[in-house]
Amino acid sequence: MEAVTVVAHPLAGDLLARLRTADTPPERFRHLARRLATVLVLEATRSLATRETPVRTPVAATTGRQLAGSVVAVPVLRAGLGMLEAATDLLPDVSVGYVGLQRDETTLEPSTYYVNVPAMRGRPVLLLDPMLATGGSAVAAARLLKERGATDIRLVCVVAAPEGLDRVAAEHPDVPVVSAAVDERLDDRGYIVPGLGDFGDRLYGTA
Ligand code: PRP
Ligand code: URA
Repeated sequence: MEAVTVVAHPLAGDLLARLRTADTPPERFRHLARRLATVLVLEATRSLATRETPVRTPVAATTGRQLAGSVVAVPVLRAGLGMLEAATDLLPDVSVGYVGLQRDETTLEPSTYYVNVPAMRGRPVLLLDPMLATGGSAVAAARLLKERGATDIRLVCVVAAPEGLDRVAAEHPDVPVVSAAVDERLDDRGYIVPGLGDFGDRLYGTA
């Protein structure tokens, strides 16, 4: 996988435009986020290893392919929860961990308030965080996961800023990013422009 994969699928573009729209209410926002995350998780899992498995159809014996191992999904609280059900729907054998990070809106530095993750060594880990802004949260989350054994982390975002992508590439060059868009820049409050505003607030109606 390239360092950044921007999903150019027409459905992803359509869903993202609706998510960006300022007057999309939280219930609709949650529904759109889940559908867009489905497209993104499909892309992030494109390279998963598979193995042959014998299959007997009603007509004949044949060979199918199934996933060679189980995947871990780790949403970054809160906003990453808006992407989790897409991963659990697509990957029934998934193990789920949680990382709670809160970005200080003055310093833009993340602080960690919760970590609960399963065994990750040798397993693909989908790190779900919809907004990659300064990159501080994603870099901290990837570091936490690596400290706990993760060796194959794939960051799944909805919108990425160039600043955040540069930071992830510099500090975690082994972590590929899948995103629905790479936007223009950050504003002076650290928000992505044009972005979609505060994802967590829009997801949970806390703006
Ligand atoms: C948002 C977002 C990312 C982070 C991105 O979370 O969900 O985790 O900001 O910003 P960064 O790249 O500059 O670190 P926030 O801290 O607002 O918490 P929330 O998900 O609870 O709303
Ligand atoms: N977090 C968000 O939710 N949105 C941004 O634009 C930046 C950080």
